[in-house]
Amino acid sequence: MRIVILLLCLLLGSLSLTNAGFLRNHDSTLNKGLRARGAPSSSPLSDRRPLPTDPPAQWFNNQVDHYNPLNTETFKQRYYVNDTYWTPGGPVFLVLGGEGPISPSYVTGHFVVNYYAPMFDALIVAVEHRFYGASTPKGNLATENLKYLSTQQALADYANFVQFFKQKYNTGDSKWVSFGGSYSGNLSAWLRLKYPNLIDAAIATSAPVKPVVDFPEYFEVVSNSIGPSCSAFVANITKTVTDMINNGQNDQVAKLFNACDPIVSDLDIATFMESLSGGISEIVQYNLDNNAYTFTNITAMCEEFEQGSDPMQTFIDFNNRYNTFSGSPCTLSSYEKSVIYQQNIDPANVNASSRSWNWQCCTEYGYYQTGESPSQPFSSTITLDYFINMCTDVFGPEGFVYKPQVDYIITDYGSTNIQSSNIVMASGTIDPWSFLGVHQTPLKSSVQPILIQGGAHCSELYMPKEHDLPDVVTARLVEIQLIKDIL
Ligand SMILES: *[C@@H]1O[C@H](CO)[C@@H](O)[C@H](O)[C@H]1NC(C)=O
Ligand SMILES: *[C@@H]1O[C@H](CO)[C@@H](O)[C@H](O)[C@H]1NC(C)=O
Ligand SMILES: *[C@@H]1O[C@H](CO)[C@@H](O)[C@H](O)[C@H]1NC(C)=O
Ligand SMILES: *[C@@H]1O[C@H](CO)[C@@H](O)[C@H](O)[C@H]1NC(C)=O
Ligand SMILES: *[C@@H]1O[C@H](CO)[C@@H](O)[C@H](O)[C@H]1NC(C)=O
Repeated sequence: MRIVILLLCLLLGSLSLTNAGFLRNHDSTLNKGLRARGAPSSSPLSDRRPLPTDPPAQWFNNQVDHYNPLNTETFKQRYYVNDTYWTPGGPVFLVLGGEGPISPSYVTGHFVVNYYAPMFDALIVAVEHRFYGASTPKGNLATENLKYLSTQQALADYANFVQFFKQKYNTGDSKWVSFGGSYSGNLSAWLRLKYPNLIDAAIATSAPVKPVVDFPEYFEVVSNSIGPSCSAFVANITKTVTDMINNGQNDQVAKLFNACDPIVSDLDIATFMESLSGGISEIVQYNLDNNAYTFTNITAMCEEFEQGSDPMQTFIDFNNRYNTFSGSPCTLSSYEKSVIYQQNIDPANVNASSRSWNWQCCTEYGYYQTGESPSQPFSSTITLDYFINMCTDVFGPEGFVYKPQVDYIITDYGSTNIQSSNIVMASGTIDPWSFLGVHQTPLKSSVQPILIQGGAHCSELYMPKEHDLPDVVTARLVEIQLIKDIL
């Protein structure tokens, strides 16, 4: 049997940031659209087929540890360059890798940079984040190596890379603009904040710059986004399933929902209930995001829920479709198997991103999408303890209690009070992550927030499409203006 883990923080597994976390294959938010472009959904990390015109991967030897002078080890960091639009003197657009592998399409048209580049004669470069894809120091994800996986080290990698690249391509005084969305969106803003000498402007899309250990608001925003009657439908399903489990009908529940394994312990129950939240979260987070990434949208999903003659069966059918979409033959339900899967991930495995991302959540970000708020329709068995347990069980040592260092991250980067300039931060009103984004220009700072009405996660970072929401179009105009302003 295959255990599938998707998503961002662990538990988040999420994919980028939806829950169903530790449990499913995680891939970067930014790669979502790659999957939409023809790749089978069962291979979340696969890119479209390589084209003969694709730029080759290039490599830079970066420092494994930027903060220990006694450690001179290096690792190979992957990058791709597209110089088709470049005229020397034009700016360099730096696309930052996030919590997943990068691919040639990062510089050949997956993102809006390829739309902006011809306007400015820009050079496009994408660089991979350490410990994702082919850029893994020491070649494996053992806990003793993951100590080198931190925001600080990743930002120093990017800064070092810029220095190297300036010489290699002889870019002289060219201006540098960094781009990122979701996790790499906050990296983009932070790179400008920490290295204003290297980065002249930053585009940071759907960047949840405010770290929180417990993130119950995620499900609240999901609930608001689907609306009261759809949310009541989901709450009823949660209650029905919970009652059955409380009556000892676990086997019946497992059978109905095509669970991968028997639902036995409390941790299995949380694992299973978290799996049931995954489909709806994913639909909401990527609703009409212009990538045709998901298999339905909020309106169609809620109509289906409300019009089905048998609510339970309607939801089961939806859940089965979500499993198929996310590449899982069944609904994840065994806590122990999830942990074992995470413990044993081979870094050569394309799905290894979930282990790296879980490490980042356990040590720095938290963002556990718990079900503890009364104003949301999912299960209250999805607790903070459940996530924290998982960190210890996956990474060890036994008994160690992981505490994401969110206070340090807030101190180091300023959270929503980020003090910098030439940064545009867009977020979508229906995206649950927008709750942690910047919505007001911080005092004494000139960061420009943009709220996209009806916008999903990262919507304006992709190439323009005919049916883009008006606010998405406007957000791009603001970004173009920012780039003009710094040149
Ligand atoms: C650069 O991107 C364009 C699409 O925007 C593509 O047609 C071109 O082949 C790319 N060039 C290189 C060198 O990859
Ligand atoms: C940056 O964004 C990602 C989600 O996109 C989040 O998981 C991570 O915790 C964020 N970092 C901080 C410090 O908020
Ligand atoms: C939502 O999905 C339904 C069913 O797939 C589709 O008919 C409809 O056009 C979609 N809505 C939008 C705005 O794309
Ligand atoms: C709640 O779900 C049960 C089980 O599917 C169903 O019989 C009942 O009609 C639902 N109630 C509402 C108000 O949707
Ligand atoms: C990666 O995940 C996909 C989708 O869940 C799965 O089909 C594939 O077998 C996994 N690959 C490996 C090497 O485990």
